Order: sequence, then C-alpha cells, then structure tokens
Amino acid sequence: MKFFIDTANLNHIKEAHELGILDGVTTNPSLMAKENIKGKEHINQHYKTICELVQGDVSAEVLNTTYKEMIDEGLELAAIHPQIVVKIPMIKDGLKVIKYLNNKNIKTNCTLVFSAGQAILAAKAGASYISPFIGRIDDSNWDGIQLISQIRHIFDIQNYETEILAASIRNPLHIIKSAEAGAHICTSPLDSILALLKHPLTDIGLAKFIEDSKKL
Ligand code: G3P
Repeated sequence: MKFFIDTANLNHIKEAHELGILDGVTTNPSLMAKENIKGKEHINQHYKTICELVQGDVSAEVLNTTYKEMIDEGLELAAIHPQIVVKIPMIKDGLKVIKYLNNKNIKTNCTLVFSAGQAILAAKAGASYISPFIGRIDDSNWDGIQLISQIRHIFDIQNYETEILAASIRNPLHIIKSAEAGAHICTSPLDSILALLKHPLTDIGLAKFIEDSKKL
C-alpha cells in the first residue's frame, strides 16, 4: 500500500517526505483554506511547491462543479506540473470530466466517494483513483473499512485498473485496516502516520538497552 499525506501544510509534507515513506500528497479546498492559500496564482504556486518537494502524485481539486468549468480548471491544474492529479467530485458532470481528462491522458482522483456504486461509475469513467472517505462513513454509523473491502473485491473481479485511495483517515488503526482491506493507497494526516511508530514496549525496551549499553 502506498502512503500519501493528506494536507496542504508544507512542514508536514517535508516531515513525512524525510521519513522516506511518502509516495504522494492529497489536498482539498478545506485543507488549502486551513493554510490560508487564497487566489488562483497563490493556489497554483502552492501546488507547484508541493510537487517540487515530493516525488509522486499530488492531487489538486477543482473548485467548480459544472462540466465546462471543471474541464477548464482541470486542464489548467494539470498544466502546473506533471505530478498533478486532478481531483474531481463524484457528481454527474464530474463523471463526464473524468472521462474527458482520461481521454487526454490526464490522471484523475474521484473524490467524495461513499458507496460501491459510485466507485464503479468512477472506475468505468476511467478515474485513476477513487477516494472513499472512511472517517466520514464511520461518523455516519456505517463501516468505512467494509466499503474498502467491497470495492476492492469488485475491482478485482471486474479487472478495473482504478486504484482505491482510502481517505478521511482519522487514526493509525484506519491505516492498518485500510491495508488489510486492500486499499492501494492510504492518505493520512501526519499525526496518524507518526502514531504508527509508537508502542510503549518499544520505548521500555529501548530505555533498557540504553541503560545496559552503559555497562558495555
Ligand atoms: O482526503 C479527504 C479528507 O481530507 C477528508 O478528511 O477528516 O475532513 O473527513 P476529513
């Protein structure tokens, strides 16, 4: 499973990159707003900076929701850097835009996926990635990880090439369970990635080794 970081924060991206485990970055309008990125020029420059910081795909989301506007915006985003993947919402016009960009060999990430039916449609349209929102599904009393398993099962038997990108990750267990359920990629905030490192027995064991090393 590939590791993406789900943030527009440059320090978090640098820290994850320096860990040596980062395969890409996902952003969304909420994450960009959190970093106070405003105006098209600033937004496009921020995506360029992220692409220069990391290797791998960087998802940049369209801000419009009509066919023509999403096409124009998608083409503009894709022109920023070869690593850009255009993130398109799971709506009727979004499907058409995914198909259009796929025909132009531009990678897309279909976002706001909450059901297997939506995943099938996005795969049929030629999305490079689909992003099921695990945390938000759990928040609404459904099982986000079970949806990953279901989509993986369908994609395998149907030979769909679209990759499953588990998103809306809220904790380290979501990452582990996404891997277990067959997600191709998991995009997580930095704190969930770093939480995977932690185990109290590691800390206790290391303290003992350090203490005993003084006897050597
Ligand atoms: O990748 C989508 C993600 O950013 C949404 O996460 O925590 O807002 O549900 P969250």
